[in-house]
Amino acid sequence: MTATTIAPGALRLDRAKPFDARAQRLVCMGRTSHSADAASFLFRAEGGGFFAYEPGQFVTLELPLAAGPLHRTYTLSSTPSRPFAVEVTVKAQGASQASRWMIEHLRPGMALKALAPAGRFTLSAADPAARGYLFVSAGSGATPMMSMLRWLADCAPEADVVYLHVARRPEDILFHHELELIDAGMPNLRLGFLVSQGAGPKGGGRRGWAGPVGRLDDTRLSLLAPDLDGRDVFCCGPEGFMDSVRALLEARGFPMARYHQESFGATGAGEPAPVTAAQAQAAPAGAPIRFTLSDREARAIPGQTVLQAARGAGVRIPAACESGLCGTCKVMAAGPVEMSHNGGILDEEIEEGYILACCSRPTGAISVDA
Ligand code: FES
Repeated sequence: MTATTIAPGALRLDRAKPFDARAQRLVCMGRTSHSADAASFLFRAEGGGFFAYEPGQFVTLELPLAAGPLHRTYTLSSTPSRPFAVEVTVKAQGASQASRWMIEHLRPGMALKALAPAGRFTLSAADPAARGYLFVSAGSGATPMMSMLRWLADCAPEADVVYLHVARRPEDILFHHELELIDAGMPNLRLGFLVSQGAGPKGGGRRGWAGPVGRLDDTRLSLLAPDLDGRDVFCCGPEGFMDSVRALLEARGFPMARYHQESFGATGAGEPAPVTAAQAQAAPAGAPIRFTLSDREARAIPGQTVLQAARGAGVRIPAACESGLCGTCKVMAAGPVEMSHNGGILDEEIEEGYILACCSRPTGAISVDA
């Protein structure tokens, strides 16, 4: 779709159809570079349509790497109050093959397969009785906060929000300029930035950084949000950062029912979990698995997931989060399994016979459509 080929119906929400992940792909419309290793990508639905989701949710993208498709989940930084496009913001770090591929190869006009937005890290998880929100993020953990803030700026600009973002250097603060613009339109928003290093070397960075430098601690948090115990806290960032925020809040007696954190990258996904009594009794030598579509057999050692057993047998089941969140690894199966998921599958789907391969462990002989 170009500026000269926009169908009249595409301009009106009441004439548009919702994005259908089974039939449509996401077409990249543009990219905004934040730094050498961070960029935002804007997508529309191929053939038109709108996106229905909650601020804070994620999408799972299928990235066509040379070695084969790779599925990865990315939190949306866009707001559903602007429903004809979605945006993800990625930061390539360490061995992040997927984000690196996006930064180096994804260009406007390219189309990607995707799963519909999902996830429970949303404003609807907040306690309606809380006095406001405290958002705390580090690094690319700013993305769901940006989605929520953009939505609040559009739909509830009077909302009482404190947002603290932690970055390594001033020039690493994602969305810095836009946050300051949002701040100007939200009278009850308080923004705070904390960096662990000062301004960058000559030519880079924000010169004259006058903000705080150091580590997040209870004093800094209390200074920015003296009333934080009455707020709902949303936290997103590297696991170690979220662990330290959680510990800090627990130490001050914060009511943790009002603490929410994005839990991508659960640890241990690649290793067998502790063996439960049911698994040990039911299949001491390992449960036999038949992969019907690829006509292969495997034996899941006690504690091993269906996904791990499939990989061992050379059977490909798409997976992204590997922690029961995104639903990418959903497969039809028959036979007994213990499944411990994090919302990536609906009760009706379980009744129909679906499981999430990444968090299901067989307790007897099963067959899997893969
Ligand atoms: S890979 Fe995300 S739920 Fe299994």
